Amino acid sequence: MFIGLVFSAAAGTAMCASSILYGIMIEYFIRFQIHTISTNKFSEELDYFFLVYVYSAIFIFIATYISIATFVYTGERIARQIREQYFRSILRQNIAYFDKYGSGEVTTRITSDVHLVHDGISEKVSLAFLYISNFIASSIIGFTISWKMALVIFITIPFLAINSILMNKYSAIFTKRSLSFNSCAGIIAEESISTIRAAVAFGAQKKLSDIYNAYLGDAKNEGFKKSLLVGFSLGIMLFGIYAFGPLAFWHGTTMIINNELSFGQVISVLNVIQNGFFSLIIFFEYIQAISLATGASSKLFETIDRVPSIDIYSDMGDKPKKVVAHIQLNNVNFIYPTRPNVNILNNISLDIKPGSTVAIIGPSGSGKSTIVSLMLRFYDPLSGGVFLDGRNIKSLNLNWLRRQIGFVSQELVLFKTTIAENVSYGLIGSIYENLPD
Ligand SMILES: Nc1ncnc2c1ncn2[C@@H]1O[C@H](COP(=O)(O)OP(=O)(O)OP(=O)(O)O)[C@@H](O)[C@H]1O
Ligand SMILES: [Mg+2]
Repeated sequence: MFIGLVFSAAAGTAMCASSILYGIMIEYFIRFQIHTISTNKFSEELDYFFLVYVYSAIFIFIATYISIATFVYTGERIARQIREQYFRSILRQNIAYFDKYGSGEVTTRITSDVHLVHDGISEKVSLAFLYISNFIASSIIGFTISWKMALVIFITIPFLAINSILMNKYSAIFTKRSLSFNSCAGIIAEESISTIRAAVAFGAQKKLSDIYNAYLGDAKNEGFKKSLLVGFSLGIMLFGIYAFGPLAFWHGTTMIINNELSFGQVISVLNVIQNGFFSLIIFFEYIQAISLATGASSKLFETIDRVPSIDIYSDMGDKPKKVVAHIQLNNVNFIYPTRPNVNILNNISLDIKPGSTVAIIGPSGSGKSTIVSLMLRFYDPLSGGVFLDGRNIKSLNLNWLRRQIGFVSQELVLFKTTIAENVSYGLIGSIYENLPD
């Protein structure tokens, strides 16, 4: 990456060459036309500058290639690692996490937020560096040729910079809001489609599509506000940049009359500083993408770093050699974290002897599935405990515990393959894993 930055800076600086050469060559054209230089000398000098032009173009090509290739490669690698780690961390989270965020948010985040990060760390970093280097080098060169003339042109810079900063700031706000409405719409779509049977059964299609449309409408409004702002602001910016010309020529004329500068120098300063300004504006745009990436990455890293209270990747906990499967619930009280004011299990005790077949019976919503969730340690009870062979399951290794349990849930999800294959997925890690078909 360091190499990439060095080459970005070199390319940005080399880009000033064309503006200066342009001024110098104009100077020769004028001298030739007013016959103060011989034809031979004229073509000799111009040949030399043509070569410099070509060499600087080749150098810019190589330096830009190296810097962009380095950053795109690094960006791809980082984005892949973030995706991997984020997905790994998501699979690690406890069930309560998904109760709170929903699967839609997770999928939206892994696509849109990782895309934002990817976008802000690839070639945009090297281009931002290239353009800011070009701006700095242009300013130094402009001031070195003629500080007075450069200063006149520079008067407009604070005005253009403030305009550009404000535009980027507010357009980022509108983009963020529009993205968040789109993400809400994505969550609705994702969850409606994944539970399409329930949606159809309750005739909720119109209601769901209305909610979806409302979010899309909000996103469109934010986009409209952004279009007004960006249009106005870019107009002002281009006005400012093209207003340089008359200002520079007006001041340049006085300096030429006073013999302080040649026409070629006036052109060089105007060109180099004007290009520097264009670079500064592009730099602000890239900085905006980079800051969006920073915002998105902080949310992703928060999840990546989150260690759940019930951790499937943890090595802690006992792994008893033998299981007889004596299951007990002792005075269990339980409340779902997302519904803190509803008491689901109230002082429940159960004693399931090894080898017995037990049916838990009760009305819908009475907590039967919840008891099974507690046995699988999807959640921990508020008080009391679940015991396997006399050991509290909190003291057992979670991965080991879940491997001891065969479980077919009520809202069953089958993978897109045969029933036999689906069953065999449940045997991974058990002694039956390598059984023949
Ligand atoms: N993830 C969850 N978050 C919040 N509340 C939940 C959650 N899962 C279930 N509940 C609530 O807990 C209560 C018990 O649900 P549970 O699924 O255990 O009932 P059940 O006895 O299995 O019902 P059914 O016979 O319909 O399967 C219900 O009021 C239900 O709405
Ligand atoms: Mg149930």
